[in-house]
Amino acid sequence: MAPDRDAEKAIAAEAAVAMVEAGMLVGLGTGTTAAHAISALGRRAAGGLKVRTVATSLATARAAGAAGLAVLDFADCAAVDLAIDGVDEIDPSLRAIKGGGGAMLREKIVASAAARMIAIADGSKPVPVLARAVPVEILPFARASVLAALRRLGGDPALRAGAASDQGNLLADCRFPDLGDPAALALAMAAIPGLLGHGIFLDEIDMLIVGREGGVERYDRPLA
Ligand code: A5P
Repeated sequence: MAPDRDAEKAIAAEAAVAMVEAGMLVGLGTGTTAAHAISALGRRAAGGLKVRTVATSLATARAAGAAGLAVLDFADCAAVDLAIDGVDEIDPSLRAIKGGGGAMLREKIVASAAARMIAIADGSKPVPVLARAVPVEILPFARASVLAALRRLGGDPALRAGAASDQGNLLADCRFPDLGDPAALALAMAAIPGLLGHGIFLDEIDMLIVGREGGVERYDRPLA
């Protein structure tokens, strides 16, 4: 029987939310896995846990509010205690590709401000080597020049037709023939003027929780 991926997401989310402690400011991710964490944290808050949250997208802010969680404006928050978010792919070094939902810019900002980040995933997300197309956020003014720069890096960018980020910018997915050195690629993309964010997460994730039918698997960031 095919694995129940949604059940795996829920199991991983529950395990991550169990690590939230009273008084924490929690960064809430975006996507279908993070949605389970929002519901689980809402249940803990309804049970009396005192927490505050910040959201990595407008959709997450709405969902968190609906779950009864206090949502602060991240613009007022210099630091977050714990971020919990999904991933699209994650390798054994806990490097990940995010941004399937187009929220990677805010997700990375919140992850970077977090003392600790837990990635939550169903069993389809861990991979030996990152390979999927990398989501990028592009300033509309710089559309053609950024796409050309990505091609010079060996990429094959495809704009998401009709899609815009929460900031009103363009979104694209850029396939590279080889993601063998994600750190070098991340550095090169970050240097493109007008490329506002990309979905390669190199060192933000401290722990990965993978939901499985019988429970969870936990992986800590390997020591450098
Ligand atoms: C949102 O932009 C993404 O980074 C998501 O966190 C990622 O795509 C995982 O999404 P799902 O949990 O829906 O698979």
